[in-house]
Amino acid sequence: MNVLEIKDLTVRYTIGRKEIHAVENLSISVKEGRFLGVVGESGSGKSTLAHTVMRLLPKNAYVLKGQIKLLGHEILSMSEDDIRQLRWKEFSMVFQRSMNALSPVHKIGVQMSEALMIHNPQMSEEQIKNRLESLLGAVNLPVRVLDCYPHQLSGGMMQRVMIALALVNSPKFVILDEATTALDVVTQGQIIEELKNLIGKFSLTGMVISHDLGVVAELCDDIAVMYAGRLMEYGSKDGIIHSPFHPYTKALVGSLPDFGKKGGRLYSIPGNLPDLSQEMNYCVFASRCEIASKECFEEVPFHVEVQGHRVACLKVGKDHAHIAGK
Ligand SMILES: Nc1ncnc2c1ncn2[C@@H]1O[C@H](COP(=O)(O)OP(=O)(O)O)[C@@H](O)[C@H]1O
Ligand SMILES: [Mg+2]
Repeated sequence: MNVLEIKDLTVRYTIGRKEIHAVENLSISVKEGRFLGVVGESGSGKSTLAHTVMRLLPKNAYVLKGQIKLLGHEILSMSEDDIRQLRWKEFSMVFQRSMNALSPVHKIGVQMSEALMIHNPQMSEEQIKNRLESLLGAVNLPVRVLDCYPHQLSGGMMQRVMIALALVNSPKFVILDEATTALDVVTQGQIIEELKNLIGKFSLTGMVISHDLGVVAELCDDIAVMYAGRLMEYGSKDGIIHSPFHPYTKALVGSLPDFGKKGGRLYSIPGNLPDLSQEMNYCVFASRCEIASKECFEEVPFHVEVQGHRVACLKVGKDHAHIAGK
C-alpha cells in the first residue's frame, strides 16, 4: 500500500518578476515500511519537495499543480487547521540545518515536552518523562541532555535531539532532509546506523533526502534521482546503484567512493545547474551531458520504463524503444 503518493507535482517560487521552477511534474510514491531516497545536487528541488509534503512552503512559493496523498489525506487541499492536527503527529521531518529550529533560551527537556504535550495534553508528567527518556535512549543520548541548553551540545548531539523531536509523537511517516550533512564523517556514520535501528524499531515509512548518494543508499529501499526540479531516474536502490541508465545517475554513481576508479580522482560532473527561472522545453541536463546530441536540446524527454526503472532520457528511450514499446 502506498503511504505517500505524489502525482504530477509542480512547485514554483516567485522572486520579483522571476519564477523559479523548483519542482516540475514530479510523480513518486512510497510504500508502507519503505524509505525512498531522494538524491541530486544542491538546488535540484529536494527540500522544496519535502516542504510541500509537510505543507511548510514559504509565502513566495506556490503549487501550480499536482496531488499529494499522504496516509490517506489529500495534503494539498486540506485546511491549515486540519494540517496542524496531523503535522508532527502523523508525519514529521528532520530539517537541513535543523539546529536553528530550537529556541536557544529553553532547555532541551522543556522544548521536547512542549512538542509532546501539544498533541497529547492528557499525558502526566511521569508519562512525559518516561517517553522522553526512552526516546533519548533510542538516539544514544544520556538523560542529562534534557537539562541542557542547545548551545551546550555538540553538532552530533543536537542532530540526535532533532531526530528524537521528530519522533516524539510517534509519527508513521518521516522525512530526513540532509539530516547528517553538517556532521563529521564519523558522527555521520554513527547517526546513520542509529537511524537504521530507529526505522526498524518504530516501523517508519519515509523519505531520506541528500545530495550524497552514499548516505541515501545506506538508508533507503528505492531511489529517486532529481536534477533541476525534474525526476531523472527512479527505481530500486540496487537497480539505481548497480545498473543506472540515465547519464546523470551514472555520473552520480561514478562519484561514489566505492565505485570511483582506484587511485584516480573521483569523478565530478563539470558544469552547473541550468537557470531555473527559464522555461526549458528540452532536457535540463543536456548542457552537461556527455552523450547529448541535437535532439536533446530540442525535446523534453519522456519517461520510459527500463528494467523496472523510470528514466527521463531521449537516448535511453531510443536505445530501449523495443522494450518500452514506443
Ligand atoms: N524561499 C525560496 N525563494 C526562492 N527560491 C527558492 C527558495 N527556496 C529554494 N529556492 C530555489 O528553488 C530551487 C530548489 O531549491 P531546494 O528545494 O532548496 O533544492 P535542494 O534541496 O535540492 O538543494 C533552487 O533554485 C533554490 O534557489
Ligand atoms: Mg535542500
